[in-house]
Amino acid sequence: MIPLTKPFFNRKEIEQVQKVLESGWVAGQGPVSNKFEKKLAKYVGTKYAITLSNCTAALHLSLLALGIKSGDEVLVADYTFPATGHSVMYCGAKPVFVDINPKTYNIEPSMIEQKITSKTKAIIPVHAFGQPAEMDAINELAEKHRLKVVEDAACALGAKYKNKYAGTISDVGCFSFHGRKGITTGEGGCYSYR
Ligand SMILES: Cc1ncc(COP(=O)(O)O)c(C=O)c1O
Repeated sequence: MIPLTKPFFNRKEIEQVQKVLESGWVAGQGPVSNKFEKKLAKYVGTKYAITLSNCTAALHLSLLALGIKSGDEVLVADYTFPATGHSVMYCGAKPVFVDINPKTYNIEPSMIEQKITSKTKAIIPVHAFGQPAEMDAINELAEKHRLKVVEDAACALGAKYKNKYAGTISDVGCFSFHGRKGITTGEGGCYSYR
């Protein structure tokens, strides 16, 4: 059998996890998660990073924070994990899928404008498998149509687009720390913003 992924933990990491268990801080908001948030924000270059139970919650809360509500439409890259579209539906809004470029698996900027209606409020580009989407073109369209942008950077921690970290090139960026990702907290995620 070839596993999709197998996380690797070294001795030091196992000891650090043991220390957290022994401290009793097994829920969020403990000193180690606060330290992790600060380190992560510093690494990607944002002011804040807020850790959550997973990236799905990060996408959902980001959209709520940006005012997405029932009756709104949000453009979503159509090659993604279901959570991207679900997060829009959790706000009562409608995900409207936009085709990807088959060469990059990322949202095709030239397909975006034809999907914009008077109800469109935001775009969620996905950095598929960690490959950054074309953020310049996406941000330009968002500015033109006054749309918010939430980057689904679930798989993209550490990836760079023109010298900026993926997840830091728009209003909010969301990361996943699920066991299949570059770094893992078991389940986990965060959103970061300036
Ligand atoms: C592109 C994308 N978005 C969102 C998610 C959801 O992440 P989580 O499992 O941390 O909720 C994933 C998970 O694989 C993903 O690949």
